Amino acid sequence: MERITIAMAKGRTANDAITLLENADILFSDFNEKGRKLIFVDDERQVNLIFVKAVDVPTYVENGAADIGVVGKDVMLESPKDVYELVDLGIGKCKMSVAGFSGTEISRLPQLTVASKYPNVTQSFFDEKGIRTKIIKLNGSIELAPLIGMADVIVDIVETGTTLKENGLVILEDITDISARLIVNKASYAIKTERIQQFVENVKRGLGVCT
Ligand code: PRP
Repeated sequence: MERITIAMAKGRTANDAITLLENADILFSDFNEKGRKLIFVDDERQVNLIFVKAVDVPTYVENGAADIGVVGKDVMLESPKDVYELVDLGIGKCKMSVAGFSGTEISRLPQLTVASKYPNVTQSFFDEKGIRTKIIKLNGSIELAPLIGMADVIVDIVETGTTLKENGLVILEDITDISARLIVNKASYAIKTERIQQFVENVKRGLGVCT
């Protein structure tokens, strides 16, 4: 059996993703969400699991360092890569939204300053609306930007809404729904077709998705 390598990120969706793999009969018995180990091996099923930063998952897959990746649609939208996106895993569900102070009228300002981890998605969204923007790229704590007057609004991920609420912000407009996707390296798919198809079928079966 050919060995396959799966890349994913630690954090919010890792536990759900590990459960999905267990449902597909792939077991990493020594996985511990709090541990610092970056590589796990299921020798019986010939599967390696590597943990990388979420934004890097598609890069590992595009370059063939991993055959398969589990990654949020937000990452794929922001930096599209030349990979196959095969399954919506239905985990890590959230949405990408424009948020700010209640009453902010985004189309009224001559130029809207927007802070976001997602400058490309932000640019396309406001370009389509014909709204002139200045985009400030941040890497975290995005909700802070309107509070300190650095931006009029933010574009960010909203899951429970707690971060917005605790910082006195509200959703002004939704951009898109997000969830985790299974992505596959194109060359791996060509070379290990049966192996990867079988893996994908097992994952889908574990999800209860008809194939
Ligand atoms: C993400 C996102 C929001 C928050 C939303 O941040 O950027 O800040 O989660 O989740 P909620 O709606 O459940 O509150 P993350 O936790 O990844 O931290 P970050 O600020 O470092 O990006």
